[in-house]
Amino acid sequence: MDEMLTQLKGKDFLTLLDFSSEEVQFLLDYAVELKEKFQQGEETHLLKGKTLAMIFEKHSTRTRISFEVGMTHLGGNGMFLHSRDLQIGRGETVHDTAKVLSEFVDGIMIRANSHEMVEELAEHASIPVINGLTDVYHPAQAMADLLTILEVKGSLKGLKLAYVGDGNNVAHSLMIAGAHMGMELTVATPKGYEFDEAIGQKVKALAEKNGGSFMTTYDATEAVQQADAIYTDVWTSMGQEEESAQRLIDFKDYQINDALVSHAKDDYMFLHCLPAHREEEVATSVIDGPNSYVFHQAGNRLHAQKAILAALMQ
Ligand code: CP
Ligand code: NVA
Repeated sequence: MDEMLTQLKGKDFLTLLDFSSEEVQFLLDYAVELKEKFQQGEETHLLKGKTLAMIFEKHSTRTRISFEVGMTHLGGNGMFLHSRDLQIGRGETVHDTAKVLSEFVDGIMIRANSHEMVEELAEHASIPVINGLTDVYHPAQAMADLLTILEVKGSLKGLKLAYVGDGNNVAHSLMIAGAHMGMELTVATPKGYEFDEAIGQKVKALAEKNGGSFMTTYDATEAVQQADAIYTDVWTSMGQEEESAQRLIDFKDYQINDALVSHAKDDYMFLHCLPAHREEEVATSVIDGPNSYVFHQAGNRLHAQKAILAALMQ
């Protein structure tokens, strides 16, 4: 444990592709441990006196609140900063922002439009940079997703996880996380909304190395056959609003509804990173039904991220 903490200390958390499967497993185990301590009322002030700058270029409910509360639980402080209020919002360079923040705080969490910008920030900051969602990845979400499936099913390896919907940031990170855990992954997207191909190849290799598998299809029914968990996300992500009308048409056969989930196992879990649009990507009967774990999943953002914060910033 101490060895793994030494290994992770000071690292950036930009994508789970930068972590070994052992490191991801460690972060998951650490989240379980910190959650147990929290539930038992045990103090875990591992980041006493430390500050996390939390920069947002986009809206957020879960990410903002869970990181801020997580820092409080760890004895530190989360500082919310909207990019439009910072000088970066009127042209100060990413390089200079990274250097200046490194003088004041102990870590940066950022939700940004461009993954490349976050990579640049991490390159020039001397403190850990944590990805709170970019156009390509949402790795903090994926850690909470793994934790939720683990808690409900008791294990991850060999479980069938089906993602149906847009091949987006959430999908990328979920599949990478599942591949690290040796899950059987299936993904169904409409034509034209596929996964990033290079990420897909890495996911396939990683899943197979860990005894799992990765299959893609355009057929939602095929993807969810005998699934242990079915996951979807919004059809229109933040920043794509002008494509919304076309997407409603292109995704109409990809709604998670009662007919579709009838092909999954009886005790399948429904998962969604939220926010959700009822009667678009998911039927109300499914998201508000007995197999839905979406609020448990949202709650686990706190616990999964406390492990990330504590490991990187201790
Ligand atoms: N799932 C998620 O990241 O939610 P927010 O956009 O509310 O942070
Ligand atoms: N794919 C969504 C996730 C929101 C948490 C988006 O990027 O808007």
